Amino acid sequence: MPSSRGHDEYQSDEPKSPFRRHFEIKVFLAATRLPPSLPDKNAALTYRCTQHESRARYLATYDDVEAAKYDAWITALTDTDHDACVADLTRHVAFSANIDVLDAGSGTGGLCLALVRIAGLCITALEPCIPMTRLLESKPELRSVRTVQGFCDHANDLSHFDAESFDVIASRQLANCLFDPLAAFRNWHVWLRAGGKIVVMDGLFDRDAWTGNWDGVVDTLPLSACRTTATVPYLLEQSGFQIDFTGFMESTNALPSTRTKRYMVVATKPLGNQ
Ligand SMILES: C[S@@+](CC[C@H](N)C(=O)[O-])C[C@H]1O[C@@H](n2cnc3c(N)ncnc32)[C@H](O)[C@@H]1O
Repeated sequence: MPSSRGHDEYQSDEPKSPFRRHFEIKVFLAATRLPPSLPDKNAALTYRCTQHESRARYLATYDDVEAAKYDAWITALTDTDHDACVADLTRHVAFSANIDVLDAGSGTGGLCLALVRIAGLCITALEPCIPMTRLLESKPELRSVRTVQGFCDHANDLSHFDAESFDVIASRQLANCLFDPLAAFRNWHVWLRAGGKIVVMDGLFDRDAWTGNWDGVVDTLPLSACRTTATVPYLLEQSGFQIDFTGFMESTNALPSTRTKRYMVVATKPLGNQ
């Protein structure tokens, strides 16, 4: 029997996303088919949707219109914003010319626009949504960036790159989107050269940041509303990295354009670690 809260939600006039409706139907079917005392060993549904459904939602949501809306925020970033990001990055990572850098979950190029300000980097941008990549590729400043289409948080994604392809793997506002952060960090561990660096930049987002098209997603992604800087380094450590720095992005957070406090984790793949 539905709880009164569930009933209220059902009666609500608020439009429901197809994903949410599908999720609720699956919950209903799972609840009605099984005797409560007999968990189905093979049931895919546990506490959230499947990774396949989560990915389908990303690909469907970032159509041309949504990608353009996202890009409006990125194109509104000024030199001061990009310089602040570079200052935060270079305070903790020593970049040198000709190193290979992967921007994971590159979107329309928010982080790439900062990375190209560091001289001589060979930058690759990994992004699953084609409309986002198209907008990245349309930016003259990012002409030198190589783009690859794909997700990064499943063992099957490992084939996007050879082992030991990169000296630095950086991500900005990707961690909160990952369905399987540990799978992503395991893949990054393989793609990174020994001694290479991981940089994760994210924000201390609240549950209520996930609205509109993203309604309901907060309870499907483990890092979606992370209010502590400890979870990402903890997971990176579990994935074989050594933590160099965890803290706030001082230069970025000092800007009036930054609404949600940003933090950064830098980690190393230890030498002799395959
Ligand atoms: C919030 S946007 C950030 C984009 C960009 N890094 C920036 O700073 O503007 C997150 C991006 O990650 C991509 N994404 C989501 N899940 C992903 C995954 N599992 N692997 C790689 N990229 C993913 C999304 O398509 C989206 O473009």
